Amino acid sequence: MAEAIEPPERPGPDGGASAGEPRRVADSVSLLVRWMSITDANSGGFIHGGTVMRLVDEAAGLAAIKHSGRRVVTAGIDRMTFNTPVFVGELLRCTASVNSVWRTSMEVGVRVEAENPFTGETRHTSTAYLTMVALEDGRPAPAPELIAESEDEKRRRREAELRRANRLAERDQILGGR
Ligand SMILES: CC(C)(COP(=O)(O)OP(=O)(O)OC[C@H]1O[C@@H](n2cnc3c(N)ncnc32)[C@H](O)[C@@H]1OP(=O)(O)O)[C@@H](O)C(=O)NCCC(=O)NCCS
Repeated sequence: MAEAIEPPERPGPDGGASAGEPRRVADSVSLLVRWMSITDANSGGFIHGGTVMRLVDEAAGLAAIKHSGRRVVTAGIDRMTFNTPVFVGELLRCTASVNSVWRTSMEVGVRVEAENPFTGETRHTSTAYLTMVALEDGRPAPAPELIAESEDEKRRRREAELRRANRLAERDQILGGR
């Protein structure tokens, strides 16, 4: 069986898991690029939404691993747009950055762009917001605080807080109405 790399152990002073030092947004920005082929397309010649979602999930996972230094799982996707179709032969570029960190969970935003390699023309095709949870021994474990430096990073953190508040409020409203 192939061997996989393991995250380092990070015990805290009380014997529990340690969150680790605060980290800057820029420390975990991640880029995944893939060339779209015929096997990624549906019978209409457009790239499957599921192909794009898989790459988005991988890019978000990578950013969350780099931020937390731990294994992570996807807990949910708050939103994902598909603005324009993607075609066979284009490069799909997913840029992921951590927008906000709570205790064990993180919102990661992913911007997807398609590039025509002949012309260099680039389109913004999707945006997605995913919640990733850091794990240790299979259980949620604390993630380091996030240092948002630029105005854009601070705005993304505010917007992530709003999405989380809306999600929790919606859940309470739905449960309250049952
Ligand atoms: C995500 C998961 C680890 C949460 O475990 P849990 O026992 O419910 O743990 P908790 O209730 O302590 O929640 C842990 C964190 O996840 C967040 N969370 C849990 N479910 C969530 C959801 N559906 N959406 C967003 N956040 C969620 C909680 O708000 C909490 O965040 P916080 O610690 O920052 O406050 C667990 O539900 C799981 O393993 N799900 C399957 C994940 C998976 O298989 N993904 C696909 C493959 S990667």
